[in-house]
Amino acid sequence: MVADVIDGKAFAAAVRGKVAEHVARLKADHGITPGLAVVLVGEDPASQVYVRNKGKQTVEAGMHSVEHRMDRGVSEADLLAMVEQLNADPAIHGILVQLPLPEHLNADLVINAIDPAKDVDGFHISNVGLLGTGQKSMVPCTPLGCLMMLRDRLGSLSGLNAVVIGRSNIVGKPMAQLLLGESCTVTIAHSRTKDIEAVCRNADILVAAVGRPEMVTGNWVKPGATVIDVGINRVPNGEKTKLVGDCDYADCAEVAGAITPVPGGVGPMTIACLLANTVTACCRANGLDEPEGLTV
Ligand code: GUN
Repeated sequence: MVADVIDGKAFAAAVRGKVAEHVARLKADHGITPGLAVVLVGEDPASQVYVRNKGKQTVEAGMHSVEHRMDRGVSEADLLAMVEQLNADPAIHGILVQLPLPEHLNADLVINAIDPAKDVDGFHISNVGLLGTGQKSMVPCTPLGCLMMLRDRLGSLSGLNAVVIGRSNIVGKPMAQLLLGESCTVTIAHSRTKDIEAVCRNADILVAAVGRPEMVTGNWVKPGATVIDVGINRVPNGEKTKLVGDCDYADCAEVAGAITPVPGGVGPMTIACLLANTVTACCRANGLDEPEGLTV
């Protein structure tokens, strides 16, 4: 079997198109422009690339984009004051504080200072609790993107065995909650899981989110399974480097029914879902109907 490729790049472009349509309608019908603020502390090169892309795509979708760069030595009080200022700003509907933060800053404290209604990352403890109890919440962008692609590929996910490898707060745990919400039978596998290959071979849906290059090989995959590779790992490639996922793509594609490539799979969906969340937050803040197909 050679797996179908799930084209995240094309899917993300379609989501961005829907976002742009909703933004145009919000402007025309209500005179409202959704606004996203991104706060970047320090000069981490990878974070700078993410933040630049976020700003660019926000503007391309017709939204208001604000970027606040703060010195890597910023005090917690000053960062919290920035969050408070954005919480109070009516032109801002979404706030994202880029992670990781420098060690002297308490990321939990900062994230939990964001107004939950503006928490477009879905990381605030209040949104985590709402998602975990099946209530309307802001949904973390990467798992939201994965779920959109899974629904598109499989239709109903009810009753399917889903295995999520990785237990991070950003991807693994919310992904498992979303799949549970779709009535999957969900297992979270991690570094201490016994016979992880056998656990994964039971999965109709396998989501890999561990950050270990090409860890998942074809013998971990149930024939015909849908494999979602969240990993983005930079590895040496001769003189240069290349990006690989958490799955050995060529090997897994021999066995899977469908698989997301790296790059061009989950990656582009994350920012598309951030834009979608910003529109959702803007509609909720203004008591308007939420756009269809942009959230769960
Ligand atoms: N750093 C890497 N991914 C993310 C993300 O999705 N949100 C935030 N805030 N920081 C990140």
